[in-house]
Amino acid sequence: MKPRDLRQLISLKPFERSSSARRLSGCHDVDDLRAAARRALPKSVFDYVDGGADEEVSLVANRESFRRFHLVPRAMQDVTSVNLATRVFGAELRAPIGLAPTGYTRMVDPAGELAVARAANSRGVPYVLSTVGTTTIEDLAISIPRNLWFQLYVLRDRGLTWSLMERANAAGVTTMEVSVDTAVSGRRLRDVRNGFTIPPTLTLSTLTDIAFNYRYWIKMITSPALSFANIAPATDDGNPTIADISSLFDPTVSWDDLADIRARWPGQLLVKGPLSPADAERAVGVGVDGVHLSNHGGRQLDRAIAPLELVRPVRERVGEDCTIVLDSGVRHGADVLIALARGADLCMVGRPYLYGLAVAGEQGVGRAIDLLIEQLHRTMQLCGLTSLADLREHGEEIVMLNETAVAPSRPREDPR
Ligand SMILES: Cc1cc2nc3c(=O)[nH]c(=O)nc-3n(C[C@H](O)[C@H](O)[C@H](O)COP(=O)(O)O)c2cc1C
Repeated sequence: MKPRDLRQLISLKPFERSSSARRLSGCHDVDDLRAAARRALPKSVFDYVDGGADEEVSLVANRESFRRFHLVPRAMQDVTSVNLATRVFGAELRAPIGLAPTGYTRMVDPAGELAVARAANSRGVPYVLSTVGTTTIEDLAISIPRNLWFQLYVLRDRGLTWSLMERANAAGVTTMEVSVDTAVSGRRLRDVRNGFTIPPTLTLSTLTDIAFNYRYWIKMITSPALSFANIAPATDDGNPTIADISSLFDPTVSWDDLADIRARWPGQLLVKGPLSPADAERAVGVGVDGVHLSNHGGRQLDRAIAPLELVRPVRERVGEDCTIVLDSGVRHGADVLIALARGADLCMVGRPYLYGLAVAGEQGVGRAIDLLIEQLHRTMQLCGLTSLADLREHGEEIVMLNETAVAPSRPREDPR
């Protein structure tokens, strides 16, 4: 071999100066982002994001529900150009993908909700700010003036609840979703075993953790302190914990409350967390504009059914005019295609963008969204589909349930 031929064989990439770009360069799917997030975060913070309730049966079932479907492509269609755009509640979205509300986001990275919202906004997809977010509704609205969504927990203090709704409306929030699956907090055993608290406290194990994850802790210590920015209950030391916040949630929330919220909220209203088709139908009867089928990513009621199983029966009950949003277990663009073929309008993700945030802030969230969009785009092409209308028309032939096969799934590592 001549030296010139040898030179051609060796391909040395220029050194990537940005550490975020370096960390993202090895992330080619959501599982890669998850693995990188695991390296970037202290164990207890990673487990808080990644874990589910009790035995994590629902957490695993959510993912497996998508793998029970097989794709039967349509051959020889011209798929040169694919349009993923859709309209949800009158807003044009670049793809049928959104970012679900997650509490205490700045614990994952101090850039927090602002970074998440910016990444979503630049990709033309919606982001939902949580009641227990660490950024105020108003601060977010200044940065993201269009298509802002807000998630509401109904609090014991109805005055505080109504004032949150008024603030959201005044800030220009277009769509509000009321979470109804959190009468009490689910028991996430990884958090219990790790002795995890919000905010994190300095214990012997935190100190050991600092030694192993000094980059994370330096970032945290040099950023403004974390707080529940939108609801700040009065506590003796002025530092409310997640337990103080949870005690604000009202376990007596009823259908009358939903009707009350409907009467007070002038924008689009979704209810997040109903799982039975009967409840979804009842919510539509109360006047909601959509239902967000979710088992909270397996973080609340363990053994709760995977939302994907319910899309078709719910669609049959609520009719075509009701918007169906789905989350819990979406990790690939093909999952989005499957959910839409079953009758959903929009898929949301929680953990995938938090993994991205942990790895590389706003850029990392952007990578999570881009991966899902690229995967959906390619899966559409390989299935012979060019638009979501096309998917709706042919979804039934293309997405088939395999009743007998046991879906292959990657084994989850033992969390302990
Ligand atoms: C760390 C974390 C915090 C969450 N906080 C909230 C919250 O404050 N309000 C809410 O309605 N859902 C919350 N969720 C649930 C998400 O909105 C969403 O339903 C779930 O993450 C979807 O499942 P996935 O993570 O498998 O995509 C949270 C989820 C995670 C992972």
